[in-house]
Amino acid sequence: MAQGLLGIESLLREEIQEILDRARDFQPREGQSFRKYDLLRDRMVVNLFFEASTRTRTSFEIAAKRLGADAVSITAQASSVSKGESLVDTLNTLGAMRPDAIIMRHAASGAPHFLQRHLGIPIINAGDGTHEHPTQALLDARTILDRGAKLEGLRVAIIGDIAHSRVARSNIFLLSKFGVQVVLCGPASLLPREMGQMAPGVELTCDMETAIRAADVIMMLRVQLERQHSAAFPAGEYFQFFGLRPEHVELAKPDVVVMHPGPINRGREISSEVADSQRSAILNQVENGVAVRMAVLERVLAA
Ligand code: CP
Repeated sequence: MAQGLLGIESLLREEIQEILDRARDFQPREGQSFRKYDLLRDRMVVNLFFEASTRTRTSFEIAAKRLGADAVSITAQASSVSKGESLVDTLNTLGAMRPDAIIMRHAASGAPHFLQRHLGIPIINAGDGTHEHPTQALLDARTILDRGAKLEGLRVAIIGDIAHSRVARSNIFLLSKFGVQVVLCGPASLLPREMGQMAPGVELTCDMETAIRAADVIMMLRVQLERQHSAAFPAGEYFQFFGLRPEHVELAKPDVVVMHPGPINRGREISSEVADSQRSAILNQVENGVAVRMAVLERVLAA
């Protein structure tokens, strides 16, 4: 962690637990905003996003500022990458301004790992291609724990475009370290068989009802058309076979938690009735994004 946070795969269960426990300290009290701290005064972070983001970019910026750090955000469109500058030259340029960490999202899997080796500045991975999105998995775990459950022994159904999902991969790494039974579900064309080998006890099914039956958590995923070279499933039929509707939720445990990393596509992978229901924790996930990212920034920058 001293070098940044590149993924969940390499973290120990104890390290994950420490971040989740620390994030709880940063959660706002009922009806209040996030408290302002002075823990990272004189520290500076750069948010460098080469892909679109609402939740991750904003919550990292809020998290840094709530801890007393300075935060600067740059998008690829607004940077000299749009004028042909290479990734290494862009990062070297930013590195010369002496930030204490760079938070980076990139469409290429492994880009943050490459840059951390090259630059020697802690890099926090805010999503790299189809590889990992570590802070998403951490905030998802915090959200499940907030609903009163222990992770051990839970059944978590992850449904949708598994093939292209860095959220699914980070969650599989995290949940399996805590003894969670993970069921992956989606159209066969978006459900690579090898993902069943990622961790012990990961099941695969193309049948939504099988995935959801007796689930404690249902995690829906967006179909990532931007990463598909050709349509993997007829768009008009996707909701019929893989869209989460109230009748599906009935098959799960009565206190099931419905989650979605966002952005959600209502009427494509989730119905409005479910997204806006009491069972939905979608906005709790967003709120926990700030608390978890405060915990991660503190851990990386206070070192
Ligand atoms: N969940 C997530 O990464 O959302 P953004 O793409 O809006 O950051």
